[in-house]
Amino acid sequence: MAQPRLQVLAAAVALTLALVAGGGGAFEFQEATVDAIQLGFRNGSLTSAALVQFYLDRIARLNPLLRAVIEVNPDTLAQAARADAERSASGGRCAAGLHGVPVLLKDNIATRDRLNTTAGSLALLGSVVRRDAGVAARLRRAGAVILGKANPTEWSNFRQVDPGWSARGGQTQNPYVLSVTPCGSSAGPGVAAEANMAAVTLGSETAGSIICPSVLNSVVGIKPTVGLTSRSGVIPITPRQDTIGPMCRTVSDAVHVLDAIVGYDELDAEATGAASKYIPHGGYRQFLRIDGLRGKRIGVLRGFFEQYAPEPRRVYEKHLSTMRHHGAILIKDLDLAGNWTDLGDQMGLLMNAEFKLSLNAYLKDLLYSPVRSLAQVIAFNNAHPKEERLKDFGQANLIAAEKTTGIGAAERAALRRLNELSTGGLEKTVKEHRLDAVVVANNDISAVLAIGGYPGIAVPAGYSEEGVPFGIVFGGLRGYEPRLIEMAYAFEQATKVRRPPAFRH
Ligand SMILES: *[C@@H]1O[C@H](CO)[C@@H](O)[C@H](O)[C@H]1NC(C)=O
Ligand SMILES: *[C@@H]1O[C@H](CO)[C@@H](O)[C@H](O)[C@H]1NC(C)=O
Ligand SMILES: *[C@@H]1O[C@H](CO)[C@@H](O)[C@H](O)[C@H]1NC(C)=O
Repeated sequence: MAQPRLQVLAAAVALTLALVAGGGGAFEFQEATVDAIQLGFRNGSLTSAALVQFYLDRIARLNPLLRAVIEVNPDTLAQAARADAERSASGGRCAAGLHGVPVLLKDNIATRDRLNTTAGSLALLGSVVRRDAGVAARLRRAGAVILGKANPTEWSNFRQVDPGWSARGGQTQNPYVLSVTPCGSSAGPGVAAEANMAAVTLGSETAGSIICPSVLNSVVGIKPTVGLTSRSGVIPITPRQDTIGPMCRTVSDAVHVLDAIVGYDELDAEATGAASKYIPHGGYRQFLRIDGLRGKRIGVLRGFFEQYAPEPRRVYEKHLSTMRHHGAILIKDLDLAGNWTDLGDQMGLLMNAEFKLSLNAYLKDLLYSPVRSLAQVIAFNNAHPKEERLKDFGQANLIAAEKTTGIGAAERAALRRLNELSTGGLEKTVKEHRLDAVVVANNDISAVLAIGGYPGIAVPAGYSEEGVPFGIVFGGLRGYEPRLIEMAYAFEQATKVRRPPAFRH
């Protein structure tokens, strides 16, 4: 009897020593990927509860400085325990995808639980949603653990507030260089992902709100084709451009999240119905191909790199050579077709009307809300000038939107013009040169992608001498996600630029 017990004891001691030494046993929480997490679940070195606890500790420690998280889910540990129990009961079979993985959601994505959904505004505190947002419901069905809500820019930038600021969350800080903006409006998810405060995060974009904070925080952001992911239950700006997408530390993680959230939703029927034809059989992970750059025709737009300082430009040039080295065919000095001078005016005019209509519809649908219309939001801000920092930021856009009276002749003309810019612009350029993607620095093409409902993927590209991250963006036409993922993944694997932040003031 004594012999086997001793052996068990010896094995336990050996395992403990291995864990202490970190030599193939202990789970490495920093920079943990979804694949590593699932492996950890399967080999017994990790539980969802331990992972959630790690992120809760990170949030408690870092959030007073970074303000990336606006609310922690009081039920997150219970959800993790449930995921752990489900996994044991299934004999480990459900250790796949996002099952048991803690996800942080931008605070404009509704959850029907104890978390608030406010788009960072005090006006919506206490409002009660009818149901989970379409993407949140899909995450739950995949067994993901809802960690909490991330700090957005209030009203998703519609108030033109400071890029990372919200009345509820305060100023989100860039963990690489605290004096530099983390950009918005998905500042919270970007910073949380990059500072290891969550396994993966979800942001939303209307015109640059995923791409911009991704490049400035050295994370991968996917801005999906509009309609690929449901917008139901997401506080809107315009259904014509709004899209929900992952912000993660790796392309592979972002693709795990994308796989979990795409699909038809009867509450966003028209857009998700139209875009579901783009979803590939077998999902997006098949496009994580190390040779994903081979044979790809990539357009390098004129004027999009030249404006940068010599150092990032040198790095971008090196990246373009790397792409060529990995088999991509670069078509350089392309001019984006079309006359874009009136883009901002037309976009603003149309968005004002669409914002009022869609926000009012969102507010009316709530089970309870302190405000029921854009007019009441404006009145709330006027009544709380100090908390809402009205003197600094004003609310000119909200007021301009309130003055609109639906989609009239001017809005229809603007819509025609924007469609013309899309078909005569990016679509024309891509088709003429048979491109798989255009590649640009940072956020520079976001408006072009926005008006066409086109997808883009941001990948870390480097750091300035001061340590501020910059990124590279692959953009394409609607439904181009498979090839964009191929290129982004192959580029990421060839360059491996991202490194976790060392906090600098
Ligand atoms: C379990 O998998 C993780 C990767 O997720 C690895 O770091 C760890 O060493 C593995 N542990 C054992 C005991 O195999
Ligand atoms: C939601 O807001 C209410 C009202 O301010 C607050 O009491 C509650 O703690 C918030 N919920 C969470 C999960 O933080
Ligand atoms: C572009 O359009 C603007 C008006 O929006 C016009 O003033 C300008 O002349 C046009 N530029 C070219 C090159 O056609």
